Amino acid sequence: MNPSHVLEASQLLNERMGQKASLGIILGSGLGTFVDYLENKKEIPYSQIPHWTTSSVSGHKGQFVFGTLSNIPVYVLQGRIHYYEGHSLEEVTFPVRVLKQLGVTTLIVTNAAGSINRSYKPGGLMLIKDHINLLGANPLRGLNSPEWGPRFPDLTQAYDDTLRKKAKAVAKKIKLKLYEGVYVAVAGPSYETPAEVKMLKTLGADAVGMSTVPEVIVANHQGMKVCGISCLTNAAAHTGAHKLGHEEVLKVTKEISKKFGLFLKEFIITDHRSSRTK
Ligand code: HPA
Repeated sequence: MNPSHVLEASQLLNERMGQKASLGIILGSGLGTFVDYLENKKEIPYSQIPHWTTSSVSGHKGQFVFGTLSNIPVYVLQGRIHYYEGHSLEEVTFPVRVLKQLGVTTLIVTNAAGSINRSYKPGGLMLIKDHINLLGANPLRGLNSPEWGPRFPDLTQAYDDTLRKKAKAVAKKIKLKLYEGVYVAVAGPSYETPAEVKMLKTLGADAVGMSTVPEVIVANHQGMKVCGISCLTNAAAHTGAHKLGHEEVLKVTKEISKKFGLFLKEFIITDHRSSRTK
């Protein structure tokens, strides 16, 4: 990745936003309505940001948003691009490099996922405690820029323990059922076969999706703290009366989006308060 491209993108965003944030949030399929909670919003379509690739997938609005939540400044990526769209993992993770350049130290990543663990009901939220990368690729492949991070970054706490504890405490406070499990990333775009789901279960995964892991690897490479949340939209390889499709995923995320938004809002406020009192 060309560092000057990251600088150009962040310079434009700095100029247009005029304010800084240390928290970044990436919203997955159908979860973009979270931005409705923000005040003092400034929005920039991805197509106006230099070197930023735009998404071709419905349910991904494709804009960079700055806003405040109870006076806490946040950058929100309303939509992401995916490996299955044909982009390189460098392109997929470019936004995370830009967020770092803008001063982000904590990243919240969200996605829609199919549940593998049969006790995790579709319509629920899952806190990601760890991941398995089955994309067959890694965003850090190639020459390493030491100013960005180490050649061989440690991923034993890819999802920050402290943030996970806070997320669980917030869920308890607002009486929200929050599962916790392992997310496996597959390349897609076809959904899994029943045999593949059986394999993923044997590997130790609780939910499956087609995103997030490259962003989390790059965020860790740059020393950011990460918290991940999956919206479980369907049972993976479900054997219902109809075929699984993206419309169903979007429909369920729409249904979950209210409780997801309330949880996320409360989590951000709680994390901000506790970080200030340290
Ligand atoms: N599999 C992979 N990705 C997904 C699924 C699924 O069942 N649901 C939402 N994203």
